[in-house]
Amino acid sequence: MKNRYADRRSKLGAMLPKNSAVVIAGAAVQYRNADSSHAFRQDSNFWYLTGFNEPESTLVLLINESKDVQSIAFVPKKDALKEIWDGYRAGPNGAVKDHGFDLAFDNTEIDERLPDLLAGYNQVFYPVGKSQKLDADVIDWIKTARSKDRHSSPIDIADASSKIGNERLIKDKDEIEIMKKACQISAEAHVEAMKFVKPGMNEQELEAFYQYQFSKRGGRFAAYTPIVAGGENACVLHYVENSKALKDGDLVLVDAGCEFELYASDITRTYPINGKFTAAQLAIYEVVLEAQQKSIEAVTVNNNVMDSQIISEKVITQGLIDLGILNGSMEELHETGAFKDFYMHKIGHWLGIDVHDAGDYIEDGEYMKFKPGMVTTVEPGIYISSTANVKDQWKGIGIRIEDNILVTAKGNQNLTDFVPSNPKEIEALMA
Ligand code: GLY
Ligand code: MN
Ligand code: MN
Repeated sequence: MKNRYADRRSKLGAMLPKNSAVVIAGAAVQYRNADSSHAFRQDSNFWYLTGFNEPESTLVLLINESKDVQSIAFVPKKDALKEIWDGYRAGPNGAVKDHGFDLAFDNTEIDERLPDLLAGYNQVFYPVGKSQKLDADVIDWIKTARSKDRHSSPIDIADASSKIGNERLIKDKDEIEIMKKACQISAEAHVEAMKFVKPGMNEQELEAFYQYQFSKRGGRFAAYTPIVAGGENACVLHYVENSKALKDGDLVLVDAGCEFELYASDITRTYPINGKFTAAQLAIYEVVLEAQQKSIEAVTVNNNVMDSQIISEKVITQGLIDLGILNGSMEELHETGAFKDFYMHKIGHWLGIDVHDAGDYIEDGEYMKFKPGMVTTVEPGIYISSTANVKDQWKGIGIRIEDNILVTAKGNQNLTDFVPSNPKEIEALMA
């Protein structure tokens, strides 16, 4: 059976040397406390290459002398009792019949069978260092494979992370459709939240509202723990406490995006809790917005990831000079990195099955050029804590604006622009 996952496995196989193997472990169930499990989330590489959503499964690809790719899966075995408690299992037969693997076995047989499968291959690719258990297992399987035949050739270990990551970096048509849907759900949730928020509400009430809006539209899970940060909490970059009251006159920074069919969206908007920006908030906001818009314009095939980074740094540096927050010339202050006191993170990251998606940022020793099918976030910010050495009017303002940008042959497409970032449009929406 041909399917999108089999195509991806073939593509990966074509990039690897003949007589090599690939081992990709699926995720195991994680527990929050005692035997209370989190909802299962498949490993991203495993999902990309299989679309198979059962825990404790492993994919093995064998690439032979003629570069044919054989796909072998180790999956949970059929178990009538376990299926009463936890639901349907495909079992090895179902895995072959319904999921397009060439062969499948019970996962309990992996230690016995995998060394036999690997014997005679020259190299095993797997994501090195991602899991100590897998590191140890791969070494054991190779050792056993070698011990089966004294005269066999050595089996080298090689890291599969970049190979799979760079394949994942260019999204195919199916992935782009799914990501558009994830982005639209999240954008609509932000629009609804702008209309919903009121002074006195708790951050976690607003967080719950986002979760409800995601789920209602088919994105049951947030792609990452939402940041709902009122006032100065926005200056804590990874604020996930989300437990304080939202105050009249403050902004709220919300970094929240849903996962749809295991693909992430990642949107930040910063908006006034009472619906009206103050003059000081607006002044900082306009700088961040200009930085964001100019950085988005730079996400095109002739540019690399550092181009939009530098644009954002320069616009923010100039903006902070214009507001009297930094003193000196733009070029000099950019050179010394003075902006880093207020803009201390990077402009963005790849987006896909992981929020901080797989894929390199350097290619052949140079910054990675944008290519059609890549999706990146663009998310500059300015964060001025109450301890900063600035006039009081600026203290406690933290603003980030984040959109998800698809690189196209002709330019780019903002997948999250359904939610306004223009301050006049935000105020109109909230009125
Ligand atoms: N939400 C995570 C990030 O913006 O990178
Ligand atoms: Mn984000
Ligand atoms: Mn992000």
